[in-house]
Amino acid sequence: MDANERRDSAKDVDRAAPDTVEQQVDADGGSQVDQAGRDVHIHAAVDGQPMDAPNGRVEARQVVNAFRGEATNVVEAGTIYGNVTFGSGSGLGSVGEGSAVPVPAHRVVARPELSGRVIRALTDESQDDMLAVTGLCGAGGFGKTTLAAVVAGDRHVRDWFRDEVWWVTLGEHVRDIELASKVNDLTARVSGVRTDYRDPEQAGQHLGAVLEGRRCLLIVDDVWNEAQLAPFNIGGLSCRRLVTTRISSVLPQNAVSVIVDIMSPGQARAVLSEGLASTGGVDWQPLWALTGGWPVLLALANRQVQTYARRGLKVAAAVQRVAERLAAKGPAALDPKNPAQRRLAVTATVEVSLDLLAEPDPSRRTRFLELAVFTEKNIIFQQTLEIYWAYTGGLDADEVEQLCLDLADMSLVQGYQHGQRPMLWLHDVMREYIRFHTDADLARYHQDFLKSYRRQLGIAGSE
Ligand SMILES: Nc1ncnc2c1ncn2[C@@H]1O[C@H](COP(=O)(O)OP(=O)(O)OP(=O)(O)O)[C@@H](O)[C@H]1O
Ligand SMILES: [Mg+2]
Repeated sequence: MDANERRDSAKDVDRAAPDTVEQQVDADGGSQVDQAGRDVHIHAAVDGQPMDAPNGRVEARQVVNAFRGEATNVVEAGTIYGNVTFGSGSGLGSVGEGSAVPVPAHRVVARPELSGRVIRALTDESQDDMLAVTGLCGAGGFGKTTLAAVVAGDRHVRDWFRDEVWWVTLGEHVRDIELASKVNDLTARVSGVRTDYRDPEQAGQHLGAVLEGRRCLLIVDDVWNEAQLAPFNIGGLSCRRLVTTRISSVLPQNAVSVIVDIMSPGQARAVLSEGLASTGGVDWQPLWALTGGWPVLLALANRQVQTYARRGLKVAAAVQRVAERLAAKGPAALDPKNPAQRRLAVTATVEVSLDLLAEPDPSRRTRFLELAVFTEKNIIFQQTLEIYWAYTGGLDADEVEQLCLDLADMSLVQGYQHGQRPMLWLHDVMREYIRFHTDADLARYHQDFLKSYRRQLGIAGSE
């Protein structure tokens, strides 16, 4: 079957598809369609049993490829397209201990400008190198995992890969035997035969051999370092890979990288208004600004608005109340206090990156928090940091540059441009997070900043 035939047959499948909708809400929160304009169902299964979503929207129909066995940290993505949340080290819910089976928990707002690019890259006929990797990169909570699942469930993608779409979730702490075991699980899913390699590389070599000749898509979610990705990138030349990560340098040089950043105002409004009746006349602008288009915070804000609405507030008043709380206490104000849900929080999302930043040297965390002195919309010139961080941390110009590169690599800054005057900038909402987080230290950071310039200019009083 050539490419055109394959596309035609995909259309036929589309036409035959039923018309119920659950998966995505379009950017305006109106009709609910997938990338190709089709209506979509939710499907999810654990050991062959459809999972009950809290919102009761999961359908048992069309649940395919349910897997019985112990390999619960791998799911075949063909079974999960739909309204899903995903287990990961830093991310969202999963079913059961050690399981990363995606759990349907929220409606997915379409981001066609991103998913379209990913789908095009994955199904690019002109691309000979099937080993090619497509990466979804971006800071925590911006929707990489969600987007990967949307792509996994896209009809065109599933047709292109003939329904062989495999999903494995890693996380920041997965290494050694645990990593090997994830690879073994995946191999077992693909081949039906279990192996028990304890070394990730050996496990990866076996996986590569098993994948050989299969035209499939392997989605590796939540990768934190190159060593984690390596076993999934051996052999299997006919297989394409989609990787989600906060750390852009884990991707191979030739990878197509798609940055997952803030949502558009329309998409943000769709998340904010999810599940709310009578939203006419509501002014979403303050909440949009305070959440900075950050999906994880948008979802928390939506949940809080729903809570107030259930307690009798009109939606407009509930939105205003949530905006007031965010303005007063910062982005972490809406974090769930319930330990079971804490991983859904802004704090957990950010802290896991800060921990990694501080791993080689705890003072790197302080350097990052010191960025709280830069106010709204500020570009931060590297030259400024050379003066500031020389004073606060004794960093020389090289060390400042390395730290800037690392912050950019770990998606802790929104951008880092290394032209004539290297500069970086933070997401507004990240800046707000660290401003509230540093709280008592903020005044001292400001003083240090002034002192650093006094010292630079040779003005007395810098000590
Ligand atoms: N397209 C979307 N529609 C609706 N909500 C979304 C969407 N994308 C993300 N969200 C919300 O943001 C949360 C975080 O999304 P997701 O887990 O996909 O982020 P991530 O970039 O993978 O984060 P991490 O780096 O921590 O793994 C989701 O649980 C959901 O509440
Ligand atoms: Mg994720």
